[in-house]
Amino acid sequence: MIASASAKVILFGEHAVVYGQPAIAIPVSSLRATVDATANNDQGLQIIAADLNQVLPVSIGAELVDSALVRTAQLVLQALGVAKPPNVTLTLRSTIPMASGLGSGAAVTAALARALSSALGKPLPDEALNALVYSIEEIYHGTPSGVDNTVVVYERPVFFVKGQRLETLAVQHTLTFVIADTGNASLTRLAVGDVRRLVENAPSKYLPIIEAIGTVTQSARTAIENGDSAVVGRLMTENHTLLTQLTVSSLELDQLVATALSAGASGAKLSGGGRGGNMIALVDKASYQSVKQALMQAGAARVFLTELAPVQLKL
Ligand code: PMV
Repeated sequence: MIASASAKVILFGEHAVVYGQPAIAIPVSSLRATVDATANNDQGLQIIAADLNQVLPVSIGAELVDSALVRTAQLVLQALGVAKPPNVTLTLRSTIPMASGLGSGAAVTAALARALSSALGKPLPDEALNALVYSIEEIYHGTPSGVDNTVVVYERPVFFVKGQRLETLAVQHTLTFVIADTGNASLTRLAVGDVRRLVENAPSKYLPIIEAIGTVTQSARTAIENGDSAVVGRLMTENHTLLTQLTVSSLELDQLVATALSAGASGAKLSGGGRGGNMIALVDKASYQSVKQALMQAGAARVFLTELAPVQLKL
């Protein structure tokens, strides 16, 4: 059986979300982590990370494991009360670039846990899966807000506030975004740690920036739900300026944002942890080709389109 999980991109509120402000994030369903679970012949439970050429055996008991993949499998067995690892090979492939703010880690964990629990005949419900993916993010990434695992597991556009019930955005009008990768991998954990030090050392300077990001995100929700793309764009660029003040942008990100804006995007910002990774620009039919081309010419390592479309809610 095959299970998968999508990438994600944060539209508003990264970093501020760690401090209890809202964030808006959407799935990028065209990029996915996929896991194929197949019964094997007495080889026990093993994970093949096909893109990395790694074979990882999974045993029960060892608490300290280097690999997030092995730890995920152990947690699934534990959650399902399975004492002996089954004879199953889990083959993992992913088209999501790593360490670039697209939720690769959360998607890989979610796909793996889905495949293993389904192979055991007890597929984890989304709520339990979300908690499991969060606990893996916590071990390997410090103090995550939970936005990544939530949007990846539920694969819906979310208005997310740490510790609060999940809210799905009521999207009525399609918005189109161009995502461009600086090609510089960047660890979110480091950027989050740096922001924490700034906030601790100079709260009167940095907390107002975090609150301002929260206000921008609240306004963005209304603008997205009303399909008011001019306002969404303006708020994206405002959010980028605030993130720059939090020191999480970079020369390359600033250049790609400026390039997108001068090529006709209605707004642009870095997305995710920052310092590298991806930026995102809001485009329309008239501007998307010129924005895409300009970003490629400006040196983006890869550029692709994604859409935020009205959600069909399952009843
Ligand atoms: O995983 P990334 O790089 O998309 O960033 C996550 C967003 C942060 O707000 C920076 C961190 C968090 O835990 O929410």
